[in-house]
Amino acid sequence: MKMIIDTDPGVDDVIAIALAHAMPDIELVGLTTIFGNTFVGQSSRNARYLVDLLGADIPVAQGASLPYDEDSYESAPHVHGPEGFGDIEDVPEIGKNVDETAAEFLVRMARENKGELVVCAIGPLTNIADALRLDAAFASNLKELVIMGGAFERAGNITEHAEANIFHDARAADEVFASDLDIKMVGLNATMQTLMKSDDFSELAKASPKIGGFIGRIAPFYLKFYRDVVNADGCAMHDAAAVLCCTNPERFDFHNSGLRVSLDEANYGATIADENRNPVSIAMNIDAPWALSTLKNEISRLD
Ligand code: BDR
Ligand code: CA
Repeated sequence: MKMIIDTDPGVDDVIAIALAHAMPDIELVGLTTIFGNTFVGQSSRNARYLVDLLGADIPVAQGASLPYDEDSYESAPHVHGPEGFGDIEDVPEIGKNVDETAAEFLVRMARENKGELVVCAIGPLTNIADALRLDAAFASNLKELVIMGGAFERAGNITEHAEANIFHDARAADEVFASDLDIKMVGLNATMQTLMKSDDFSELAKASPKIGGFIGRIAPFYLKFYRDVVNADGCAMHDAAAVLCCTNPERFDFHNSGLRVSLDEANYGATIADENRNPVSIAMNIDAPWALSTLKNEISRLD
């Protein structure tokens, strides 16, 4: 399948992109970048660094730098490191972004690959909402949108009620759920089941010195956040779970419900059932042992 990943790399984004690159069923035709774990310019720099490390030829289109309703936002240096790559600083600037914006790139690629393109969105949803605003045919041109985001009838991870990607641009997310897009949502219900441990990273680094080694280099910072703040022995493979949902939905249990995103102060960013909207396939469970072994096996095949 042809896939664009919309991303804010980010430790688990790096793992998701490496996984998509490794999987034989996926042709990764572009990365679009978004603010979130870090600032958008840094997201693009990180994306291009990773493309170069993978030895791939994947265009990077830069997207939104701010959410719709805000003139600032808080990135997550305490989760993913000061530049999104754990404790690595001064990530080198390699190559260039393409001339189109992320939304322009998404719209054109969806039109040129009508009915075939899957977008896997693993950051805040501003670029996707921008693409919907830019082209009325975007929703019908796309095969599917698979989102890492949301928390359905459970606690969030950035506030009591909200998951980080949805929280960072709740209005954009609400526009996406109000659209005619065919959507699968892989939120915390499923992704918090996918905890990868320190030993898993060591195995990965041994099997794949360059790519697995880089992941092993940036993962300890993210693992430490999970250990100290989440109180978990392992870190969640949020974004990789969304990639796996594109190729292997049969490994997930879904609940179908329309969704809206709360913009009220008290529940800001919560993903709430709304029977008046198109149903979204909400992943409630994932076959986690399968997901973790697939992730390790696929990335292990890289250099
Ligand atoms: C999401 O937020 C980011 O920290 C991760 O990269 C993931 O996309 C999890 O809530
Ligand atoms: Ca992400």
